[in-house]
Amino acid sequence: MLRRLESCVLAAAAGIAVTLGTIGIAGAANVTLSCGAVGLELEICKEGAEAWAAKSGNHVEVISTPNSATERLALYQQILAANSADIDVFQIDVIWPGILADHFIDLSKYIPQEEIDQHFKAIVENNTVDGRFIAMPWFTDAGLLYYRKDLLDKYDRPVPRTWQELEETARLIQAAEREAGNPKMWGFVYQAKAYEGLTVDALEWIDSWRGGTIVEPDGTISINNPRAAAALTWAAGTVGTIAPEGVLNYAEEESRGVFQSGNAVFMRNWPYAWALSQAEDSPIRGKVGVVALPKGGPDGKHTGGLGGWQLAVSKYSENPEVAADLVRYLTSYDEQKRRAIKGSYNPTIEALYRDPEVLAAVPFFGSLFDTFVNAVARPSRVTGAKYNQVSAEFFNAVHAVLSGEIDAKTAVAQLERKLERISRGGRW
Ligand code: GLC
Repeated sequence: MLRRLESCVLAAAAGIAVTLGTIGIAGAANVTLSCGAVGLELEICKEGAEAWAAKSGNHVEVISTPNSATERLALYQQILAANSADIDVFQIDVIWPGILADHFIDLSKYIPQEEIDQHFKAIVENNTVDGRFIAMPWFTDAGLLYYRKDLLDKYDRPVPRTWQELEETARLIQAAEREAGNPKMWGFVYQAKAYEGLTVDALEWIDSWRGGTIVEPDGTISINNPRAAAALTWAAGTVGTIAPEGVLNYAEEESRGVFQSGNAVFMRNWPYAWALSQAEDSPIRGKVGVVALPKGGPDGKHTGGLGGWQLAVSKYSENPEVAADLVRYLTSYDEQKRRAIKGSYNPTIEALYRDPEVLAAVPFFGSLFDTFVNAVARPSRVTGAKYNQVSAEFFNAVHAVLSGEIDAKTAVAQLERKLERISRGGRW
């Protein structure tokens, strides 16, 4: 898949080119960048990488990776465990520094501190492991509620403030629209496939019910509590009623597909879905509103799961300096601005949230600023290298509840025992 041999040869050639370059003979390096391909992501990534190549005189190869964060991590672990130089720059998830840090170089040696300091402090801290700054923030993410403004207007319904209200409105509009001739209409779509995305959706339900964060920042396993169980019970009730059964196999793009074709009233998704929903050929262009996710009842709270992606340079790279220069370019103010306007990717540079052109393209970057900065984090920091195991146990348990295989109360009790075993008594 990665054309190992071919890229080894390329990398070796690049090594020579750089050496020649440093002794004054014109030469260009080849670097390989892995990026995501969700929605417009790959296209926008390539444009940025090519602009850097044209400016710097180097060559860049962009490699696309699986959409599922779970599958992407497995692929990265394979490549990195082989100490392979095939990929120089990795796009990594906000939850991976504790898992992958050992394979990346300390970027503070290559990127000026004042540039690093422009980015949200919490993300810079997240990307600092044992004092090493291993990844530059590229874009941040928070889960949001997308809704059809036109349909809420038509049925004279307010934007829901609680999940219970959302359910009621979803039922009503779904039934009425089906009656009016659209048998494909659904009330709510989200991500419930057994993968990392479900961990985020479920954490949002639980946090909105004030049911904790699975494992708390101090290491306490908190998942076995009545609020968490109530949140999951509510979510299980949506499957096959206001959400299609198929949601059990939906990731981000499957839910966006249904919403963007006009067949859902509400969608939970990340900010990237905004730019696509507003594209010229989008059937829902101009008909979409975006707000914070609902509360789990009147005593609950609005929340959004924290996501986001960083760029890291492999320690096996044969051109770390050139690779770090590519990272510096892609994470810069101007490039983050371009990505925000074209793809609604949330900048990690705070000043961009005051940029009029950015705010005109994505108005909710302003109105939901608090949702972005207060987004609820998955327990990756405290569980460190074990996060992936914790998340897999969690999403599998949630998936079983949503599929009706087990009730939420039993599931969270069983999960607590599994997490205790993984943590060896709370010591992560
Ligand atoms: C988004 C988020 C990422 C998360 C993933 C789950 O890409 O940015 O943090 O892990 O979705 O599907």
